[in-house]
Amino acid sequence: MDSKSIIGAHIAVVDDEMANVELLRRLLELEGYTEVSCYTDPREFLDSCRILPPDLVLLDLMMPQMNGFEVLERLRGSLEDFDYRPVMMITSDDDRDTKRKALSSGARDFLAKPVSPVEVGLRVGNLLQTRFLQLELQRHAERLEERVRSRTAQLEEARLEILERLALAAEYRDDATGEHTRRVGRACAALAEALGLPSDQVEDIQRAAPLHDVGKIALPDTILLKQGSLTHDETAVMREHTTIGATILSGSRFPMMRIAEQIALHHHECWDGSGYPDGLSGEQIPLAAKIVAVIDVFDSLTHARVYKRAWTTEEALDEVENLAGTKFDPTVARAFLRIHGRMPAGTASDTLHIDED
Ligand SMILES: [Fe+2]
Repeated sequence: MDSKSIIGAHIAVVDDEMANVELLRRLLELEGYTEVSCYTDPREFLDSCRILPPDLVLLDLMMPQMNGFEVLERLRGSLEDFDYRPVMMITSDDDRDTKRKALSSGARDFLAKPVSPVEVGLRVGNLLQTRFLQLELQRHAERLEERVRSRTAQLEEARLEILERLALAAEYRDDATGEHTRRVGRACAALAEALGLPSDQVEDIQRAAPLHDVGKIALPDTILLKQGSLTHDETAVMREHTTIGATILSGSRFPMMRIAEQIALHHHECWDGSGYPDGLSGEQIPLAAKIVAVIDVFDSLTHARVYKRAWTTEEALDEVENLAGTKFDPTVARAFLRIHGRMPAGTASDTLHIDED
């Protein structure tokens, strides 16, 4: 705070006697204050406050149109930051009760009539210094809040980026572009939305789904990239990516990570109970995992890998349709087919809700 800002403070003088108003104006101008507004009618003063509230008010207590207490009351009702705009009562009444009432109504200080020039200068200076320190504190608090907001957003961004990179690391040997994981995230979100899930859950599924195969990070290339069918033992190792992924993601306190853990563990479970690792069936399988199961298979079928050609969209949609009710939850499969124009909207009641844990 510099003295320049105090000198430029907006001071309002409200007193029904013109001589008093003029005297105070002159005293304030002698102290160097340049923005002094004077009012002999408190109603005019209150009107002006709606447009430009002053930094400090010198307010006469006894006025015929409206006394100082009423003015204070109206100011309190109309100014949001009334508590930070000091009011100094000018009164010839030295009665203690009057002073107490004025203080409890929001006045900060008193000036006794007849006013002393030295006292006016000192008291006005003190009140304005307090006012400007409060403004500076307020600005400082706002700047700090803004920095906290920005840091929080950066942390959130970093957290999401780390998750994306973790998903990419798992897919790297198979799909170095990370396109599969990103597509799975987007498509799972669309399917979750089509199933009527609330937007926060849709967003969690979009973030969590790319991590479905994070456990593959622990699999050997000889199995992960093998062309041709896997032996019985190799299949058992390959299946471990579900439990390894769940272990990597386990124990988080964030709902999104708990969904990611469920997805990693159960995205190879089947509706009829023939899947792995736990052989869950039907509604035992978490919905997020059932969504990823459909999307993962469809995306893998429609994109080429080193060991297989890409299926056409129609071929892959046929496969989803065929597997509805055996591998896939029929409701989830229907919603997916509907997104792809295979089923007219409203053919089934497909609104579901995901488990919280
Ligand atoms: Fe998988």
